[in-house]
Amino acid sequence: MASTPAQRPQWGTRIGFVLAAAGSAVGLGNIWKFPYIAGQNGGGAFVLVYLVCIVLVGLPIMLAELMVGRHTKKDAIGAFIALEHKRSWWQTPGWISVSAAFIISSYYSVVAGWTLDYVYRALMGRFAGTDPAVVEGMFGTLIADGSRQMVWHFVFMALCLAIVISGVQKGIERWSKILMPILFLLLTLLFVNGMISPGARQGLEFMFSPDFNKLTPGSVLEALGHSFFTLSLGMAAMITYGSYLKREEDLFAAGLRVVILDTVIALMAGLAIFPIVFAVGMAPAAGPGLIFKTIPVVFSQIPGGAILAVFFFLLLSFAALTSNISLLEAQVAYLIDERGWGRKTATCTIAALAFTVGIPTALSYNVMADWTFIGNRSFFDSADLIASNYLLPIAGLLIAIYVGWFWGGDEEKEELMAGGAGWVYPVWHVLIRFVSPLAVAIVLYYKIDEAGL
Ligand code: PHE
Ligand code: NA
Repeated sequence: MASTPAQRPQWGTRIGFVLAAAGSAVGLGNIWKFPYIAGQNGGGAFVLVYLVCIVLVGLPIMLAELMVGRHTKKDAIGAFIALEHKRSWWQTPGWISVSAAFIISSYYSVVAGWTLDYVYRALMGRFAGTDPAVVEGMFGTLIADGSRQMVWHFVFMALCLAIVISGVQKGIERWSKILMPILFLLLTLLFVNGMISPGARQGLEFMFSPDFNKLTPGSVLEALGHSFFTLSLGMAAMITYGSYLKREEDLFAAGLRVVILDTVIALMAGLAIFPIVFAVGMAPAAGPGLIFKTIPVVFSQIPGGAILAVFFFLLLSFAALTSNISLLEAQVAYLIDERGWGRKTATCTIAALAFTVGIPTALSYNVMADWTFIGNRSFFDSADLIASNYLLPIAGLLIAIYVGWFWGGDEEKEELMAGGAGWVYPVWHVLIRFVSPLAVAIVLYYKIDEAGL
């Protein structure tokens, strides 16, 4: 049974959409990546460049994806079929985005499983008062243990499945309305804790004091690439979530709120993390090293660390959960809209497939440690490389070009202007036609170069 437009789900409220879309956007990128790249690339100078990238590239493409979704009321592939049934090559961005969603959902779940493992350890009080070397070693032990990772990968995927299977309103919207406020509350507590910590000043300086000497052309590229990833663009999530937006909703206002939330949360994350890292005299690292080694050591040493550790890893788990459900939903929507599947069958199939493809990621640092794929990379790194360096920017570029140049008529104008101010459309149109595609093309060029292929 193909679902007819009348049966197609919609968000119940605007805040429901904003929280669900912010749930997709706010993820590991905000917490383990942004604060660090800001600190490394000249602090305040980088934050400025990043904000400019968000406004000139991230927001316009976000609006373009929401428009494509809401206008067609379809999944990311169906949307392009509906718009361009005569020129089928324009389905390409849809296919690339959904493939990206599939690949990312497989390995994201493994990393999210690590955060669940750390929630468990924190609850058991494994960090507090423990020798720093032991705490640091826990991460190595975890990734050397394939079956332990697979258990958490399974638990995480099962949680995502339980939410997505319950539908757009009863599953995704309902849980976003519960998880996102808790996430914000936890982050606020950690942020206040950071601001009253003895390292507050140093943390603020690391992230904000502008050092224009550290701002290289490479930093600008980093800011551009990150503005894209952080907003979940090019991975079908925003097209799909946009397709559940009501026609009368002010799309610009809703999209803007999502972007602001994502940015504020990234800044707060940095001010929650760096002060306490500096307070115990450690050096900030990036990515998994920061989250799974440095931070647990910090929590083992500061007052209240036992409880703060629980908060921190819960925060990460919730951020990962609401991101991964958007990726699953993007794939599920395709099976429902284009293949006529029921939601239950579609969700179970996608979750099972993503779980299976995630297994080699969970085994990347143990059983399969010697297996290399693209350019000597592990399975995990190869999957990440394909998705982040190629699929996302290619999809984003094609979407910007399509919406800017090929999507004819004034349909998009009407969509966007429903309720928006008069200057919004002309400004957005210039950005989506010229600025965004050019910026993404440059990022893509350097990402391919960086991959060294
Ligand atoms: N936007 C997410 C982040 O900042 C990244 C992401 C979300 C990646 C959803 C994939 C899927 O971490
Ligand atoms: Na983000």
